[in-house]
Amino acid sequence: MVIHQRADDNPDRDPPEALGSAPATPALGSSLDIENVGKSFRAANGTVMQALSGFSLAVEAGEMVSLVGPSGCGKSTLLRLIAGLDSPTSGELRIGAELIAGPSADRGLIFQQPNLFPWLSVRRNIQAGLVARGVLAECRQDTEHFLRLVGLEAFADRYPHELSGGMAQRAALARALVNHPRILLLDEPLGALDQFTRMKMQDEVLRLWLARRTTMVLVTHDVDEAIYMSDRIVLLTPGPGRVERMIDVGLERPRYRNSPRFLELRTRILEMLHFTGGGAPEPTTR
Ligand SMILES: Nc1ncnc2c1ncn2[C@@H]1O[C@H](COP(=O)(O)OP(=O)(O)OP(=O)(O)O)[C@@H](O)[C@H]1O
Ligand SMILES: [Mg+2]
Repeated sequence: MVIHQRADDNPDRDPPEALGSAPATPALGSSLDIENVGKSFRAANGTVMQALSGFSLAVEAGEMVSLVGPSGCGKSTLLRLIAGLDSPTSGELRIGAELIAGPSADRGLIFQQPNLFPWLSVRRNIQAGLVARGVLAECRQDTEHFLRLVGLEAFADRYPHELSGGMAQRAALARALVNHPRILLLDEPLGALDQFTRMKMQDEVLRLWLARRTTMVLVTHDVDEAIYMSDRIVLLTPGPGRVERMIDVGLERPRYRNSPRFLELRTRILEMLHFTGGGAPEPTTR
């Protein structure tokens, strides 16, 4: 994947620092193949609820893909299947050539709430996965690296209740990244933040993505966020979730939220989501 510099279409904002620079480390990402996946749940009264049906998606190694769709269409269910926290009723999911058969440190999952352990300091929170896997001694330096990367080195000994929402979410990011996941799954990770912090965190995530080149799947309800962040946007059908449209964003990075091409794409996607009503020309889909 090529990351382009773009500095020519921003009327009133400096480019986000370093968001267009080359990756600092070799790619860690793995490809993800979701093939014809279905997932149903049986309710307590015996009725079967189909959350996903015939869902297929191929994500390239190092790609950033966003999932956008109505509430209840199966986005979190899909991330849980990719994380290996649940298994599909039909179909297959693979990381590279490997069938997903359970959870693995290879796949980090970040939720809307940071879910930090309140009784542990930021540093200890970040180390929790390393402790669980018995590799803290050899990976201790990584903790310090990721503390610096998310800008929390001065807060390493603080506890979660002493952090702002954005800082807590950065700690959650570091806690996932310290395991060097090949795939990072983000389930509305910025949804609880105010708009200003959210935009800063988007840059943070992009910076980390550029530095590590982890494959990322991001669930978001925010069309602007999807365009700002992703290589591709997947629009899902209302439940049971299936791929309705696939949109290649095709904008160079760094991106500007008020550039004409950004705004045009935003209008088209909103029209596709039927928020503004018909008539847009066909976007690039596949
Ligand atoms: N463990 C479960 N048991 C029963 N039904 C479930 C379970 N998990 C999810 N569902 C159902 O599956 C459907 C999809 O849920 P999911 O949480 O994946 O939606 P979502 O797209 O993430 O929604 P939102 O945007 O609101 O987070 C919903 O109808 C939900 O009720
Ligand atoms: Mg969800």
